[in-house]
Amino acid sequence: MDPQSRLRRYEEAFADHAAPFAFVDLDAMWDNASQMLRRAGDKPIRVASKSLRCRPLQREILDSNDRFDGLMTFTLPETLWLAGHGFENLLLAYPTTDRAALRELGELTAADPDGAPIVMVDSVEHLDLIESATDKPVRLCLDLDAGYWRAGGRLKIGPKRSPLHTPEQARALAVEIARRPALRLVALMSYEGHIAGFGDKVTGKRAQNAVVGWMQRQSFAELRERRARAVQLVREVADLQIVNAGGTGDLQLVAQEPAMTEATAGSGFYAPTLFDTYSTFRLQPAAMFALPVCRRPDAQTVTALGGGYLASGVGAKDRMPTPYLPAGLSLNAMEGTGEVQTPLTGDAAQSLKVGDKVYFRHTKSGELCERFDRLYLVRGAQVVDTVPTYRGEGRTFL
Ligand SMILES: Cc1ncc(COP(=O)(O)O)c(C=O)c1O
Repeated sequence: MDPQSRLRRYEEAFADHAAPFAFVDLDAMWDNASQMLRRAGDKPIRVASKSLRCRPLQREILDSNDRFDGLMTFTLPETLWLAGHGFENLLLAYPTTDRAALRELGELTAADPDGAPIVMVDSVEHLDLIESATDKPVRLCLDLDAGYWRAGGRLKIGPKRSPLHTPEQARALAVEIARRPALRLVALMSYEGHIAGFGDKVTGKRAQNAVVGWMQRQSFAELRERRARAVQLVREVADLQIVNAGGTGDLQLVAQEPAMTEATAGSGFYAPTLFDTYSTFRLQPAAMFALPVCRRPDAQTVTALGGGYLASGVGAKDRMPTPYLPAGLSLNAMEGTGEVQTPLTGDAAQSLKVGDKVYFRHTKSGELCERFDRLYLVRGAQVVDTVPTYRGEGRTFL
């Protein structure tokens, strides 16, 4: 849909709503959902909760299609909270050190040995910590490093997470888990953030794009073999029910890996600006926020209220939200998106009036929901529902 028609829809939908507010364009979100299912081939998609942070939307997505199967969660308290609300098939993707939550998980697993949430480990230290927190059973997922190593490991490209890089290292930890009666290894995950989370079509960066594309092809070729071998070796000592990989950016690659039982995706539902930079797919912007124009410092500039919702990562200009609608607005180079005020210039600024709305996109996905307590849900030119974010439910896990 062209920007002008979108703007007309949003202006009609929000005619009586006072900004600032955040919203999700459901037409765009469901379009993105279908596209991701197509790209994932016949793999089920585990939905990354950190990239949504809205319980009702997570529920709706899981209920919309059998191939959206389970959640990838981001903290153990979050996972237990979701389990308490009836979410099943939960895989916590990042190791926990929360002993009280582990105790609770142990109780839950004792009551439901095959359905309780699964937690991530990558070292004997993690196993010891879990066993020191609870003597009850706990189901585990092993995290295999997906990094691309060159020069004998002196150059490592990829997320700095798990120390388990070789299939043999993965098997050795699986053997150690098998020795511990309360712990059960049921899953293996390997996340290639340098492929799934890194665009190869960044505007104005031709040389960088060429290098990134080349690196990603090399890395995926190596990874496909290495993780297939790791799955094979770990299966010798553990009954793996889940083998997970991927993210919004590379579903079409995970689809080609027979060793993977599923892929993960989250950001693709909201489609923040970071996911505009991929050569292989195009998503519809779905999650946005609106700010009110509150003053006009000069003929070329208007100033909106709020807006400094920076995305995590290396502090750089591309972490700032982007003015989206009306088209033709730019941020001020000295101020960017401010704590309470965001000046805007460009052609469209000249015709904006005090009280008008400006629609912005966030750089990342779920972090937007830490700034707003609710999301308006828009279909066509109507607000059809209002749902709480995690924050709106009084839950700020990270
Ligand atoms: C373990 C893991 N899997 C998958 C993803 C992909 O999530 P998304 O689709 O939101 O990019 C991430 C994102 O950081 C992740 O940490």
